[in-house]
Amino acid sequence: LPVEPFDLVIFGGTGDLAVRKLLPALYHRFVDGQIPASSRIIGIAREGLDDDGYRASLRKALQEGGGNAAKIEAFLGQVGYRSLDARKDDGWDAFAALIGEQPEHIRVFYLSTSPELFVDICNRLGSYGLNKGRARVVLEKPIGRDLASANQINDAVGHVFEESQTFRIDHYLGKETVQNLLALRFGNVLFEPLWNAEHIDHVQITVAETLGVGQRSAYYDRAGALRDMVQNHILQLLCMVAMEPPSSLQPDAVRDEKLKVLRSLKPIDESNAAQLTVRGQYRAGAAEGQSVPGYLDELASGKSNTETFVALKAEIANWRWAGVPFYLRTGKRLPERVSEIAVVFKAVPHSIFDPAAGVLAQNRLVLRLQPDEDIKLWLTIKHPGPGGLRLRHVPLDMSFAEAFGVQQPDAYERLLLDVVRGNPTLFMRRDEVEAAWQWADPILAAWADSGETPRPYTSGTWGPSAAVALIERDGRTWNEES
Ligand code: BG6
Repeated sequence: LPVEPFDLVIFGGTGDLAVRKLLPALYHRFVDGQIPASSRIIGIAREGLDDDGYRASLRKALQEGGGNAAKIEAFLGQVGYRSLDARKDDGWDAFAALIGEQPEHIRVFYLSTSPELFVDICNRLGSYGLNKGRARVVLEKPIGRDLASANQINDAVGHVFEESQTFRIDHYLGKETVQNLLALRFGNVLFEPLWNAEHIDHVQITVAETLGVGQRSAYYDRAGALRDMVQNHILQLLCMVAMEPPSSLQPDAVRDEKLKVLRSLKPIDESNAAQLTVRGQYRAGAAEGQSVPGYLDELASGKSNTETFVALKAEIANWRWAGVPFYLRTGKRLPERVSEIAVVFKAVPHSIFDPAAGVLAQNRLVLRLQPDEDIKLWLTIKHPGPGGLRLRHVPLDMSFAEAFGVQQPDAYERLLLDVVRGNPTLFMRRDEVEAAWQWADPILAAWADSGETPRPYTSGTWGPSAAVALIERDGRTWNEES
């Protein structure tokens, strides 16, 4: 079904995210007939382009993404461009007049720029009256670089837009498998009785990428893996695994439960960061069969203490999860692109099997987000055949592509339309962002104070060996079953 007519303005319209993710997502929704014909999509950046110049750059990206030529042209007919500087008034009058042409439209302002510009952009949107009516603002992560700067941004945005108009996007929440966690946990009777410290041994969340930092080093070098991936995406995944059942799927019912998880995270600070965290930085090596340079070689300065890998052991101090480790890891230039959540159950209390029958492995529920979405439940069964009782560990396997036969939509497709529809369930509320920084800040401070440099790892390996030691010390291993 089409959504209501809207005008969507993307600040940072020539940036990597807009060109690689946002516009292709909108194109796919257009092809499926969900974008009304009167809707407009307007890219904004400082570059002195015109509509045609902008469309040409998008045409190329959409063609490379396998779009149909005629449909691309029809879609681009709804796309325009304006050159604006958030820090100067030039052009803003004309821009406000353009938006004012369709006052009944829902207005969405997507800030896909550096967070340093969020305040200036919102102030101008406010002073030109563009925050009025059915206006919404989308803030791309990271929101700030610590709690103090996030508060400054949230306060300033809050002067112009109400909280109900503010959508803090975390695209991991739009991924099918993540939403499936809700269905799996709360739509089945099997899991919830076991979903606690009594039956779950530990949880692992891995977000591994083969890509390096490449063109994004100006942003990335000021962020690092903890700010770029853990403070937002990985903590949001952790919340979906760990939260209590919300009373409904109302936005605040879900977000209240996530917030409680974030507030229950045990602090990691200078007293324990050395035991509970590992930082790494990639060196030259290989990625997808090609040799690739190291992180420092990609920086103009050739110097940096920024981590491109982090592994850590988190804990949630509440009744459900006390004592259950959540091992989290993410990194660039790892051997494969894979994101998954592994919930590892406890061993059976007593084995009745002969040791010769084989190892009695623990049950695991593995939810894979990438590259393909699937859910596997690893069980112990008897190896078929007459030759004695031999145990085997096999998956009950639900691959989405096989089961439903379609390519799953990109997370941004769902989330962009949720903004237009005004549904904030899968967006972060201000207090969630703050609680996540409250946990991340002392880790960043402990690293800065320690004066230690991140441990080097060769591109194409699973990060520094200390990350393996972090989990093996506890008699556990990173999930390798796929
Ligand atoms: C972004 C990070 O939020 O997520 C990137 O800034 C990262 O560094 C990306 O590469 C990963 O997203 P996905 O959907 O490709 O796993």
